Amino acid sequence: MKCFFLTTAIDYANGSPHLGHAYEKILADAVVRSKRLEGVPCHFLTGLDEHGQKVQETAERLGRDPQLLCDGTAEEFKSMCGHMKIAYDDYVRTTEPRHKKVVQDILRLLSEKEEIYKAAYCGLYSVRAERFVQEKDRINGRWPEDFGEVVELREENYFFRLSKYQDWLVDFLQKNSDFIYPAYRQKQVLEFLKEPLNDLCISRPKSRLRWGIELPIDRDYVTYVWFDALINYISAVGYGTENFTNFWPADVQVIGKDILAPAHAVYWPIMLHAIGLPPPRRLLVHGWWLAKGGAKMSKSEGNAIRPMDYADAYGPDAFRYFVLREMNVGQDSNFSHALFVARYRSDLANDLGNLLSRLMSMLDRYCGGIVPLPEVCDDPEKELKALAEEVIGKVRKHCEAYDFSGALEEVLSLVRAGNRYLECREPWKLAKGGPAAQKILRACLGNGAECLRIGAELLFPAMPAAAEKMLSQLGAERIGDWLALAWGDSLTGRKIGERTILFPPIEEEGDALSPLPA
Ligand code: MSP
Repeated sequence: MKCFFLTTAIDYANGSPHLGHAYEKILADAVVRSKRLEGVPCHFLTGLDEHGQKVQETAERLGRDPQLLCDGTAEEFKSMCGHMKIAYDDYVRTTEPRHKKVVQDILRLLSEKEEIYKAAYCGLYSVRAERFVQEKDRINGRWPEDFGEVVELREENYFFRLSKYQDWLVDFLQKNSDFIYPAYRQKQVLEFLKEPLNDLCISRPKSRLRWGIELPIDRDYVTYVWFDALINYISAVGYGTENFTNFWPADVQVIGKDILAPAHAVYWPIMLHAIGLPPPRRLLVHGWWLAKGGAKMSKSEGNAIRPMDYADAYGPDAFRYFVLREMNVGQDSNFSHALFVARYRSDLANDLGNLLSRLMSMLDRYCGGIVPLPEVCDDPEKELKALAEEVIGKVRKHCEAYDFSGALEEVLSLVRAGNRYLECREPWKLAKGGPAAQKILRACLGNGAECLRIGAELLFPAMPAAAEKMLSQLGAERIGDWLALAWGDSLTGRKIGERTILFPPIEEEGDALSPLPA
């Protein structure tokens, strides 16, 4: 049976994971977790892009074997995913035999179908940057320093007949207006397609680049890295085998805006079409995390945040919460330590942490650690229950629309309502009263606990570990099924668990953590 198949971009293997890499995988993980909560079977693929010039150069500079270098990086990225609770089902590496075989099979197929041809390319070549450059790359009439010597070079290469499919692609995009999310990006791609496409050079001579997948039709060449990398999305799910139809077409392919056009919006659908496969159902395109001054956060800029530092210092859930709450999918967002600290303090330590710790201590003190029935006494209970039920519906809708920021805002509004409810009922005062007050006190704590149980179930896509801990402190069993999630009395009579502080206060101020070295 076809499952909901979600992929992410595969990260370059020539550096350590930074905030941009972590965010994309957390976003993908949240999409998959919310789908699973809706009862949809999913398959979540991510991985590492290991070939190409940059990896070869890094390996040479470090005097290391490129495969060993990639092995080390793969461990680092996988360990980041483990720490961040990014629960992928499969991690594909482009140096794996399963991937190389599919790349070569596809190249053979395209060559048999005469979709690939050999031709000479004549152009300006930068020896130091080891790539073809164009006149427009000159700055004030001069070649940039890092190009070194620029010479005229004639090189034979293999080309894929991309241009032949331009009209097909335009037609496809016009008929499938929801292919790219957000929609305005699809318009940008159509704009891009107003200019004629060139055929795509899909080879590099081995004399120039050794670290790549050999062309099965000519042993003197390796495959161009983008052509190789895009194929991961089908090589990892058994392209060419019976199983493949359980996965393809992918339901959502999560990528950053920098790799939409031409790679994912032009090369990829055309490559698929040329081998007789449908395009993915949707490209979900997120924006960039920006550092101070508005620059894209990246390793080469030396301004990249090390996600592991945050996970170690404040817990993976706080980091996940911050990135999902702060970024509106599709737009850019600023990252600063001060913003992180402010959100942590207001939403997590204050609103959420406060509700949990007040409830736990009062359940312990006034109810012997047993959750009472969430009885309806009057309007405050009715209002809290009605809000919780409304929030369940809203959170489900937001997640369906990839709006995790909106979903988290809704959950936090429920949490804040839970705190207000306690303040309105003042259980600490009721505790001093007679039997009638005692009855309201018990109902109040039952209702408060139920409110938090619903909140915790709704927090799972963003904060799986913290949500689990909250439920176990409340003595609840996780239902993990949003279709069955409703206000009820499942907590009644349960013994609360051990109390722990989920979000300890942050004492320090300012930029406490240093960026990833360039
Ligand atoms: N290897 C290619 C992708 C091949 S997919 C067939 C690549 N790798 S990357 O490591 O440079 O980027 C991986 C993903 O991280 C991309 O989707 C990219 O947009 C994302 N990010 C890298 N820096 C980013 C930010 N500063 N902010 C958000 N995401 C960005 O491209």
